[in-house]
Formats: sequence, C-alpha cells, structure tokens
Amino acid sequence: MSLSPDHDRLEFWEEQAQRLHWDTRWNQALDWSGAPFARWFTGGRLNVAYNCVDRHVEAGHGDQVAFHWEGEPGDTRTITYAELRSEVCKTANALLSLGLRAGDRVAIQLPMIPEAVFAMLACARLGLPHSVVFGGFSPAALRSRIEDAGARLLITSDGQYRRGKAEPMKALTDEATGYTPSIEHVLVVRRTGADVPWTEGRDLWWHHLVDTQSAAHRPEAFDAEHPLFVLYTSGTTGKPKGILHTTGGYLTQAAYTHRAVFGLDPDSDIYWCTADIGWITGHSYIVYGPLANRTTSVMYEGTPNTPHEGRHFEIIERYGVSVYYTAPTLIRTFMKWGEDIPARYDLSSIGVLGSVGEPINPEAWRWYRRHIGGDRAPVVDTWWQTETGAVMIAPLPGRPDAKPGSARTPLPGISAKVVDDQGREVGKGESGYLVLDQPWPSMLRGVWGDDDRYRETYWSRFPAQGYYFAGDGARYDEDGDIWLLGRIDDVMNVSGHRISTAEVESALVSHPTVAEAAVVGASDTTTGQAIVAFVILRGGATAREADAGRVVAALREHVAQEIGPIAKPRRILTVPELPKTRSGKIMRRLLRDVAENREVGDVTTLADASVMDLINAGLVRET
Ligand code: WT7
Repeated sequence: MSLSPDHDRLEFWEEQAQRLHWDTRWNQALDWSGAPFARWFTGGRLNVAYNCVDRHVEAGHGDQVAFHWEGEPGDTRTITYAELRSEVCKTANALLSLGLRAGDRVAIQLPMIPEAVFAMLACARLGLPHSVVFGGFSPAALRSRIEDAGARLLITSDGQYRRGKAEPMKALTDEATGYTPSIEHVLVVRRTGADVPWTEGRDLWWHHLVDTQSAAHRPEAFDAEHPLFVLYTSGTTGKPKGILHTTGGYLTQAAYTHRAVFGLDPDSDIYWCTADIGWITGHSYIVYGPLANRTTSVMYEGTPNTPHEGRHFEIIERYGVSVYYTAPTLIRTFMKWGEDIPARYDLSSIGVLGSVGEPINPEAWRWYRRHIGGDRAPVVDTWWQTETGAVMIAPLPGRPDAKPGSARTPLPGISAKVVDDQGREVGKGESGYLVLDQPWPSMLRGVWGDDDRYRETYWSRFPAQGYYFAGDGARYDEDGDIWLLGRIDDVMNVSGHRISTAEVESALVSHPTVAEAAVVGASDTTTGQAIVAFVILRGGATAREADAGRVVAALREHVAQEIGPIAKPRRILTVPELPKTRSGKIMRRLLRDVAENREVGDVTTLADASVMDLINAGLVRET
C-alpha cells in the first residue's frame, strides 16, 4: 500500500462521513504517512453515541422504535430512540460516578439484553473503549481479555437464558475477576433472578446504580481516532488478538455499508441481525451501523429452537421483519429442520436477506432465497472480518444477475485483489490470496498493545506491495467476480466462529494427561468446519479401549472450560505420534485427510513416513 491513495476513493468516503454529525470537521480524509497505521478524518471530532441516538431524537424521531427486544422466555421490551437516549445517559452517568474517565477500558460480558446496547453506547459516549466478551466464553477466556485490556470495570449479569434454562453468569465471571486486579467494580444486571456470589464494595447492581441516575448527559466530542473498542479474535497463535477500532472512520463505514448493502430505509424497514453482540457483526450491524442510520431493529436473546424450531420465523412474522441478516450455519440448520417449518409462517415482509461469517454454499443460498425469501428477496453474501470492521465485499442489492455463492465485488470505496504468492494479481478463473490493496475507513488501527504483531500478522506477507493479507483464499470467475474459498491459515471456522487450531491445541496441552496435540478443521455439512483433535497422551501410550471414552470426555470438557463450549472438539483421537516435517512442523494437511476419512496424501516430506501408518492403525481403537 505504498501506492498513493486514490483521490476518488477518498472523496467518496468524505461524502459518506458527511452523513454523520461532526462537532469539528476533519482536515484530511486519510493520513497514511505512518502506514500500516492509518488515521482517517484527522482533526475531526464527534461523539458516536450522539450520532447513534441523540441526533435522531433531536430531529423529531424520539418516538420511533430503536429495538423490538424479545427475551428467550418470551418477555418483550420496546425501546424508542427517546428511551434509548435516557437509558444511555443514565448508564453514562453511572459510569462517571464510578470515576471512569475517557480512555479507561470497560469489559462487558452480557447476554443479548438491552442493557448490553446501553452499556456499549454509554462507553462510546464517554470515550471508554469497551471490550465485549461473548457470553459463551469461559472464565479463563474472560480473564485473559480483561488482563490484556487492563479493564477497570466489568459489566455482566446474574445469569442468562440458554435453551430454556437459566444459566449462571456472575458466578463464572467471579472466577475470572478473582485474578484480575485491574477490575475495580463489577456492575451486575439482574436478568434471571438467580442467587449470585457478591463481593461487597466491588459489586454493584445495575438497578441500584443506573436506574437512579439522571437521564441528562451532555456528550463530549472525541477525536476521530479515539479508540472506540477492542474486540478479541483468534489468530494463528494461541493468544487471541485485541483488534482495535476507532471512532470516525469506523462509524462512517459501518453506517454506509449497513445502508447500502441492505438498501435500508429507516422509515419503513424492520431489520434483524441474528448475531451476538460478542462478535464484530453484533458491534457493527446490531449496534453502531443500524443506530447511526436510525434503524428500527429486532433483537432476540435466545437460541433459534427455543421453545420450538419456528422461533425465528415467528419473530419475523410478529414484527414484520424486512431485512434479515444471519450466518450460513444457521441456514443449514434450518434446512435440516425442514422447509415445512418456515412454511407455517407469513414471511412476506422479507425484502432482503443477508449472509455472513463463512462461504455460503450454493445449495444453502438457494434454500435461503426460496424458503425464507419467497423466491423474491435478494441474498447478499457479505465478506468481511473483525479486522475490517465493516463489510468489504458484497453484491449491492438491485443487481439482477444473482450468483449463488459469490460475494461478487468490493463495495464502492473499497479495493480488493486476488493475488499469487508473489503478490501478482491472478487472472479470470484463477485462485490465490485475497488482499486489500487500499486503506479503508473502518480498518483496524492495530492489535491492542502489540504493534509488532499487527505488522507481522497482516502486513508482512506482501511487504513489497504493502498489501493487507486477509488470510482467505479466493478466486476470480470468468466475469471477474470474487468467490471466497475459506481460510488458508490455521484458523478454523466453526458455525461462523473463528477459532485457531493453536488456541485449542494449547488448551489441550494444558491438561495434565496430554503431551502433545494437533488440531484441524474437518469439513462439516452443518457447521462448515468441525474441530478434530489428535492427541498424544503422556507416557506415550494411546488411551486403552477401556478408558478412551473417559479421557476424551474429560478433554472435551477441559477445552470448554479453557475457551468455551464453542471450541469443544467434535472428535478427539488419541495417537502415538503426530506427522511432522523434518523441521518439526505438524503436517495438518495429512491429519485433515484422516479427519475427513480420505486417503492420506503425499507423505514424502514427513520426517518419518511410517507415522501415518501408526495413526491409521490406532484409529481402529477410536469410537
Ligand atoms: C473470517 C472473519 C465478518 C463477521 C463475521 C466473522 C470468514 C466471513 C464471509 C463470507 C466467506 C467469510 C472469512 C474471514 N468469512 N464472511 N461472506 N464468505 N467467508 O468475522 O470472526 O473476524 O471472521 O470469516 O474467512 O476471514 P471473523
């Protein structure tokens, strides 16, 4: 990216930025002199929460619904923009009363309840970078994220509803905060009414502290590059990276893409993004993008089959959802449950369908369009990443020539290429690596506390060209449209969740019975990939038939505790050896062959070619 930034592109983004309210206008669209550290809209000042909430109320839209919220047990809450403003102000005043000041970090682990949105916006309002941690992550995962960000406050809840049951949350977060001296207070939302352990002086109830605050608060404008949030995501090493996003560029692109990709009309559309706020999709397309555009959204707390498999369709019918944005893994799950389920509901309100998180296979794409979209609604496949902050590649609606399975072309203002390993653009019909060759407003500004890791991970692959390396394989078709082919690094995609093989491996080897572990993603018809682990037990022996089941169950549980249930391996195979090259690198390709029940490929680069025979012989004992 040593290229001089394209003038038209910058002008385009300056135009998009004008849809926001700036207290001080920027003087330069992009400062790329410190590449790969970008600064967008330098000198500009704005408040994200004001842009997402107050300005809509001031413009006379206070009575418009911001969220139709529905809890898993069936309780509901309607929140207008005026109500949202007072909730956000109260929350902001509560955070101020705890002594938090701009720049302090706040960790948030909450279920999908309105307070999660209030908390994020209150942080944004005060310039407190938030670090939202997915509710399904374990205490160990929460602890490492709090430690890395040095958070002063944790906002959590007593419990959360999952699959019809009230599960504990505060009891788990206490396991993390027992080891995180940076946390001064824990603010607890009462959701399930469960008894919770309590630390006097540190722990505070939301309904005591927040509900009693004044609903008036004057927002202060922050620099366009003020940190807005840190969101941890898996990389190729065991330690998750804190992806840093800032204020002006992020909000500009989140808002622009949300409006353009879904053709969103704030006066008539009812929008529902089914992600969790613990992921980037929840940040950009439940909170910041939609609210900046004054959208009326649906927000749902629970699982899609509680209490029945028609829950999502019932919600679409009840609120008249016109834009529905979900992940291929859920679409394939709906396919498995059967098309007669959506057929029982009136889904005629649906106008646009979105997909995100992994490549959508043409079969799922067609099913989605037919059975949810009534064969009318366009399906927009949106490619992006935690790091990109907002959608980068997607078909704009209105393009009639639909292509099931292709994300098509970079959006206006975005530039992407498919290149070979020398960084040369490949031709039509050819595959290679996806790179981003021009900076974009919502690009990550770094890895929290680790500039070297930022340079190394994203910018060292094509240093001559200065391309951002996304980690995905891609192909141009004969029309030059882009097809995403999945990760080419050691990152797995399980139900649209990004999990690194190294992360699961380090969880496994932290168990006292495990000497070594290698993890691969095996393709799976529902979840995209499934985690398969190969472990060498201490003492060198494979688990004897009698206790293999027990060992495997204990290891799966251990991974759930170390990372979270989403990282539990589908299969664990105990093996006597792992296939390694002479330089000691594990050849995952061969393990993937085993995991996917294929003939094992070329073994000539193995240090010891007989290893694969040993593994295959050992497999007879598995299951
Ligand atoms: C990785 C990023 C973007 C929010 C959800 C995931 C894969 C994402 C697509 C898509 C093919 C996709 C890529 C990417 N991915 N969307 N439409 N088609 N692959 O965010 O956890 O940061 O994961 O998800 O492999 O690199 P994330």
